[in-house]
Formats: sequence, structure tokens, C-alpha cells
Amino acid sequence: MKKVGIITAKGGSGKSTLARHLAVAADQADFSTVILDTDPQGTLRDWGEARNKEPHVITEYGTNPDRIEQAFKRIEAAGADLLIVDTQGHSSPIPTNVAKLCDLVLVPMRPTPDDFRAIKGTVSMLQDRRVPHFVVLSQCPTNTPRPKAEAYSLLKKASIPAWMGAIHMKGIIPSSGISGETVMELEGLTDAEAKSADEFRSLFTWMRRELDMKALNPAIA
Ligand SMILES: Nc1ncnc2c1ncn2[C@@H]1O[C@H](COP(=O)(O)OP(=O)(O)OP(=O)(O)O)[C@@H](O)[C@H]1O
Ligand SMILES: [Mg+2]
Repeated sequence: MKKVGIITAKGGSGKSTLARHLAVAADQADFSTVILDTDPQGTLRDWGEARNKEPHVITEYGTNPDRIEQAFKRIEAAGADLLIVDTQGHSSPIPTNVAKLCDLVLVPMRPTPDDFRAIKGTVSMLQDRRVPHFVVLSQCPTNTPRPKAEAYSLLKKASIPAWMGAIHMKGIIPSSGISGETVMELEGLTDAEAKSADEFRSLFTWMRRELDMKALNPAIA
């Protein structure tokens, strides 16, 4: 089982959104996928209750590292191919406990200098623990490429690895969560909205290759 953590101490960066879209992309590609919600705010627990179908959401809000490790082991023993772990957005031992157990950590970041400064603590925690990690630009404005270009440049100068795509800001993304879905499952999308679905799928395809997960569904190879 591959384990992916979604971690950044900066609140509202898009962790839960990224976690559920990646999990659904994996499910659509026939990987048996589980989400572990470790954020007591329960964003994905509530989304999972509205959804009531795969990928299922398991919760573990304990701060004891053993409990998180046991949750990972239970999920692996149940036969999952992929575990995606959502974490909370403020200082807490949980994200570090999660990171230690992961094969890969994605760090969502809005493309602003303030957000860039805010991810540095998370990135150095991941570097210190030698956990492979990439920043994923999230909530990028669609009316100007400038913030995205500036963010890539700041990340490059700081030698922080980043996914070279981006997730843009679209109203359909929060709307899709109301019914426990993701943008990749909605019918009747406009062309602009369909691009959001493509962005998440392309992030998943890249992540699958990083993790060396064999394609189960040739359509997404
Ligand atoms: N690409 C996007 N386009 C539009 N809205 C978005 C996008 N990504 C996230 N959002 C919205 O921004 C808000 C914050 O996103 P999300 O809850 O995923 O962040 P988070 O990092 O999990 O926050 P927290 O730190 O509180 O857990 C939510 O209302 C979400 O619907
Ligand atoms: Mg969240």
C-alpha cells in the first residue's frame, strides 16, 4: 500500500480538497483507495458521510503516534492499494506523525508570497525527516498567470520541489463537495469546469508515476 500525506500548517490551502479529489481519481483508475481523516475539524468525515460510497473515509483524531500507525496498519491489512491522509492546518503533532509513515507528502500552497513563507516550516520538517515531498500550487487565479509564475520562481530559488502543473480556482470545486462528490464526477460541466477535472486527474497520473504504482486501468496510463 502506498501512503500519501497532504500536509501544510497553513489553513485553507486546499488540503482536504486535494485529498478527496486525488482519492476519487485513484478510485476511478481502479485502485482500492482509503482516505484517513486526521483533522478533528472532520471536513472529509462529513464529506464521506454525504458520499456514502468509495473511496471510504476512516477517521483517527488521536495525537498519539501509535494510534495513527495502527490505523495505517489496519487499512493496509484490509487490502487498500493507496491511502491518502488529510491533516489539520495548524500546529499539532499529527502532521509530523503522519509524515513519518508516508511514501510521499504533497504540500498544497496558494500562489502568494505569504503562503510561500508559511509552508517553509512544513517543508523543513519533511526535509529533516527525509520524507519525499512536492508542493502543489492550489487555488491559482484563472485571470492572470503572474502569481503562478512568481510562486514557481520562489520555489525554484529555494530548491523546494514542486509539481509543475497547478490547480486553479473554480467555484465548481466547493460546489461538488456538497453532495459528497468531486468535480470529476459531475455531469454537464462547462469546458472551463471540465479543465478542473483534468487538472486533478493529471496530478493523480503524475503522483501514480512518482509512487511507481502500476496502471490498473489502461485508459489512464
Ligand atoms: N481550487 C479551488 N477552487 C475554488 N475553491 C477551492 C479550491 N480549493 C479549495 N477551495 C475552497 O477553499 C476552502 C479551503 O479549502 P480546503 O478546505 O480544501 O483547505 P484545507 O487546507 O483543508 O483547510 P483547513 O486548513 O481548514 O483544513 C474551501 O472552502 C474549499 O472548498
Ligand atoms: Mg482541511
